Amino acid sequence: MSSDPLFSPFQLKGFTLRNRLGVAPMTRMSSPGDSIPRQDVLDFLVRRAEHGAALVYTEAIVTDYESAQGYPGQARLTTQRQIDAWAPVVEKIQAAGALAIMQMFHCGRMAWPEVNPARRAIAPSQLAPQQTNPLTGQPYPLPDVMSRFDIDHVIHGFVETAKGAVAAGFDGIEIHGAHGYLINQFLSAYSNRRDDEYGGAVDRRFRFAREVIRAVRPVVPAERLLLFRISNWGVADSQVSLFASAEEWQMLISLLAAEPLDALSVSTYNFRDKAFGTDCTMAQLTRQVTALPLLICGQIHDRRSAEEALADADMVLSGKSMLLNPHWVAEVRAGKPLPLFKAADANVAYTDVPLP
Ligand SMILES: Cc1cc2nc3c(=O)[nH]c(=O)nc-3n(C[C@H](O)[C@H](O)[C@H](O)COP(=O)(O)O)c2cc1C
Repeated sequence: MSSDPLFSPFQLKGFTLRNRLGVAPMTRMSSPGDSIPRQDVLDFLVRRAEHGAALVYTEAIVTDYESAQGYPGQARLTTQRQIDAWAPVVEKIQAAGALAIMQMFHCGRMAWPEVNPARRAIAPSQLAPQQTNPLTGQPYPLPDVMSRFDIDHVIHGFVETAKGAVAAGFDGIEIHGAHGYLINQFLSAYSNRRDDEYGGAVDRRFRFAREVIRAVRPVVPAERLLLFRISNWGVADSQVSLFASAEEWQMLISLLAAEPLDALSVSTYNFRDKAFGTDCTMAQLTRQVTALPLLICGQIHDRRSAEEALADADMVLSGKSMLLNPHWVAEVRAGKPLPLFKAADANVAYTDVPLP
């Protein structure tokens, strides 16, 4: 590694990342109607690549037209029009020297049935989040327990969306297994109370994630990347530790590491927090059980925090700093004092005022 680890390249399979700073996935809710983001939202991703980010994630792309969408105006990537809208964006991100990664998700019980054409809400078990939907002030609906049909249908949606991303030219595809959405709901005993082969001990709760990964991998060309994002927290009932202990977390990571994945992305509230009552951070606990390339995220906002985070990871991702500061990469490089943005500062993500 060079004397400036943050600005040294990283080899991720056949891809050389020019530095260690990436744009975290950020939902923008700008795609009503045809599930294609507004042009300025697409342009924003290109601008971050032009301003030095080494990789750029899309917002979480919804995997079907039935039950996957959890927020109004989310994007999809299966129709030719959707693929044709993303292809030039991907090309420009790549021309600017960054990798383009598509993230895909199903909301599960974090459901907003009215924004899905089929108006369904499905989840591993019939449990609604305790919290109300912050956007509507209403309780979340009680979801249907997923049947075998639902499981197969959802997996199919992940596969078709991955195919759309491959057709649009993305370098990598990420399965969103974090933040209390569907895959995370299966992984956590908090939301998965099933007594069939998809519930019970960790390896059984992992079954759905494994089926998604193994169905998606064959449609992603071998030279492109398949990543998985995971967290111990969810957007609703956020006080809940979704996993019980460091042992449980590490078992899960070991199960993931045995799958055909090219990297893991660990999402935290604060990358510095010690996890599960241990002396270790989430990144450190993860690193103890896998050599897979690791991306870390959570309150990384200036050079010091980025360097510190990189000590236990290969890439650092920023959400809010990348969103709100177009010059973040250059200013991190310069060691400029930079603010730690709050969640409320990021609400501009959902307006139709173009971000710089
Ligand atoms: C506006 C906004 C939208 C987000 N949407 C997503 C998303 O679609 N998928 C995802 O995995 N995380 C999403 N996140 C979480 C970020 O990727 C990141 O994990 C979080 O903001 C913490 O990083 P930060 O402290 O650098 O902001 C979103 C965050 C923000 C601020």
